[in-house]
Amino acid sequence: LEDTVRAITIERFGDPAGMAMRTVDAPEPAPAQVLIRTAAIGVGGVDAVIRRGTLGSGFPSGMIPGSEIAGRVVGVGDDVDPAWIGRRVWAFTGTSGGYAEYAVAALEDVIPLPDTLSDVDAVTLGSAGTVAHFALLQAGVRSRARVLVRGAAGSIGIAAVQLAVHAGASVVAVTTSSRSRGALLRELGATHALDRSGRSDAADAPESFDVIIDIVGGPDVAQFIDRLAPNGRMVMVGAVAGYPPADFGAALLRSFQQSRSFGTFSLATIPVAERNAARAAQFADGVLTPIVHEILPLERAADAHRAMDQGSVFGRIVLVPGSH
Ligand SMILES: NC(=O)c1ccc[n+]([C@@H]2O[C@H](COP(=O)([O-])OP(=O)(O)OC[C@H]3O[C@@H](n4cnc5c(N)ncnc54)[C@H](OP(=O)(O)O)[C@@H]3O)[C@@H](O)[C@H]2O)c1
Repeated sequence: LEDTVRAITIERFGDPAGMAMRTVDAPEPAPAQVLIRTAAIGVGGVDAVIRRGTLGSGFPSGMIPGSEIAGRVVGVGDDVDPAWIGRRVWAFTGTSGGYAEYAVAALEDVIPLPDTLSDVDAVTLGSAGTVAHFALLQAGVRSRARVLVRGAAGSIGIAAVQLAVHAGASVVAVTTSSRSRGALLRELGATHALDRSGRSDAADAPESFDVIIDIVGGPDVAQFIDRLAPNGRMVMVGAVAGYPPADFGAALLRSFQQSRSFGTFSLATIPVAERNAARAAQFADGVLTPIVHEILPLERAADAHRAMDQGSVFGRIVLVPGSH
């Protein structure tokens, strides 16, 4: 194994131009970790948020971003069965370390890949599919449910739409600011594309929903609570538009007789064994179609982040390291 590896680092937080390709010391697996030679690296929304520098001071300059990789295990830490070496796997690397030719991951965050799923597709389904799965479970989506996925054009939304269709929902509406992304979501089974305010010119646009999966949050949450049918449930999974105002819950109380509910969902509450079982099932069952926006060489990570900042990405941008 090499002593040094090529990696993308964040030299300056803020603009994507602050990212650079560097040669760094090769990572070494600690006990209970494995070393993976990366073949595909997922570019996630959270990477962009960290790079913008808005997540606070916990991230040092010079850090390697990236949390999702696929590739082959090439080394193991103490206490890890050497039989792992040579296996093709998907891994979550935490909030850093992924944009590199080699990365380490805790064994509990590593999942062997079936031959039927490519490295690129594995990092595309990755975490987002699992988040969508458990969020829909939390919201109690059943056959014939009328579902709205708010902010459906991102990785979590794309998975949530497909899983709601698979669960037999009678309506799977989405919000998106783009007609073309609305058309792509319809190809994945969405029945109605609404604008960001939840409106549409179509005569058959649904008025109310049994379930709202909300990835957006922000100032409009109360308006969407008002769109819940009696006993309807809204589950907030993300807050890409920020947290809702403190008084948003007044909308629930105003409609007390409708028995609506609101909750948040974080994957952190799902025990790691359950998370891994759900992820392995998604990797194997073929229910989710991985939507790859673009595949770029690792050295073009800054271009990937520019596209993320422009808001034009539909599906996952995947980075691939050059030949080893
Ligand atoms: N709960 C969990 O366990 C968990 C796990 C991982 C991540 N997350 C959270 O999930 C979110 C990222 O999910 P993602 O990658 O699927 O989302 P994303 O791609 O960042 O955003 C989803 C969509 O929201 C729309 N949008 C963006 N800004 C908006 C605004 N200001 N107002 C209304 N709509 C807006 C955009 O679509 P249009 O332009 O088409 O409208 C965008 O495609 C983050 O908040 C992250 O913290 C949660």
